Formats: sequence, C-alpha cells, structure tokens
Amino acid sequence: MVETGWFYGSAIDPILKLMRKKLAAHISANETVIDIACGTGAQVFEMAGKAKRIVGVDLADSMIEYAKKQKLKRNTTNTEFVVADATDLSLFSENEFDVATMSLALHQFNPILYNPILDEMKRVAKRIVIVDYAVPLPSNYIGVSSKIIEFMAGREHNRNFRKFYKAGGLTSILPQFGLQITKEQLFAKGAFLLVVCSKAQPD
Ligand SMILES: C[S@@+](CC[C@H](N)C(=O)[O-])C[C@H]1O[C@@H](n2cnc3c(N)ncnc32)[C@H](O)[C@@H]1O
Repeated sequence: MVETGWFYGSAIDPILKLMRKKLAAHISANETVIDIACGTGAQVFEMAGKAKRIVGVDLADSMIEYAKKQKLKRNTTNTEFVVADATDLSLFSENEFDVATMSLALHQFNPILYNPILDEMKRVAKRIVIVDYAVPLPSNYIGVSSKIIEFMAGREHNRNFRKFYKAGGLTSILPQFGLQITKEQLFAKGAFLLVVCSKAQPD
C-alpha cells in the first residue's frame, strides 16, 4: 500500500482519534515533545493544545509536506515539521525534549532498526511514550480489522508487523533496549497498548 499524506489523512487519521487523545493525555502543560515517524502530523496537532513546543519528524517528504500544509491551515505556532530518519536524530541535542512519542510506527520497522531508533529516542528525550498494537490482538472487530490492515500494508510492512507480533509486542521488546515500562494502558477494546517508559539505569 502506498502511504501518501493525502491517503493517510483521509482514510486512516479519522479512525485513530481515540488513540490521539489517549496519547495526548500523557503530555503535561508546557512540555516539549518530539513525535517520531509523525506521518501527517495528526498526533502532533492533538498535542499542540498542551505542549510548549512539538517537533514532528518523518522520513517521507510527502508526509512532512502534508503536515506543513495542515500547520498553515490550523495556524499553530508551537509545531515544527522536519524530514529526518528516526535512526539519526543528530539535528537534536541530548535531552532536548521532555518527551519522545511514537504512535503506530514501531511495528512497521525492521527489528534491526529497533536499537538505533530507541537509542535516539532515549538520547533526545527524558521520557518516552509509545502506542502500538497490543499483543495478542483481541478477536473482536478491531483486532481482526487491524490484522487485515497490516496484511494490506505491503509485503515488507506485513513481514515487520509479524516479527513485532511474534516478538511479543511493546512489553517484550522495549525492556530489551534499555527502556523501563512505568505505565501500561490498553484501549480500543484491547487492540492498542500505550506504554510510558523511563530510561533503565545500567546495572
Ligand atoms: C504508520 S505511519 C504513521 C504513523 C503516525 N505516527 C500516526 O500516528 O499516524 C508510519 C510513518 O513512519 C514513517 N517512517 C518510515 N520509516 C521511517 C524512518 N526511518 N524514520 C522516520 N520515519 C519513518 C513513514 O513515512 C510513515 O509516515
């Protein structure tokens, strides 16, 4: 499936409103936030009412162009959008942000990228909040349609989703990469899991 800003903004964003609100609820007033793999920027705009500064980064020019057009329409002054690879956030300094967020994106990455991506999130932010599919997915309509969406998302995307699922999802993967889960929240009838993480202290 070709992901463009227009397709994502018209077909996917409207069904993710609940997730956007749940994630934004974990941002406190006046915090600074970086949203990794931000896509159309929908999550960034949901958090813009609270945060002091929010930077959305995505590798796709088309997504960042779409997000910048939305920014003009919405007239937000505390949002920025930058084309950047999640594995290399060298544009940003250590602990530049209070929070790094990532919504519905970790499952699409090849597992060899988990380490560089999560290392960069830990480097640039003090706290990390991630939402992704719950594992196992429930057998209700949201769980079944999530699997269908992931099947239709293209061969590589689906292969990575299956590896994410087989690895046990966020609660199994994140602690392997130096993240300590301090809060877990299931929602959307058990199909999505939100986790709040701090950086694990080395032994
Ligand atoms: C599922 S989509 C968007 C998810 C978005 N966070 C949301 O909540 O709607 C995943 C995004 O990851 C982006 N992406 C893929 N590889 C990336 C990378 N290496 N660095 C940054 N973004 C990447 C894609 O361009 C796409 O916009």
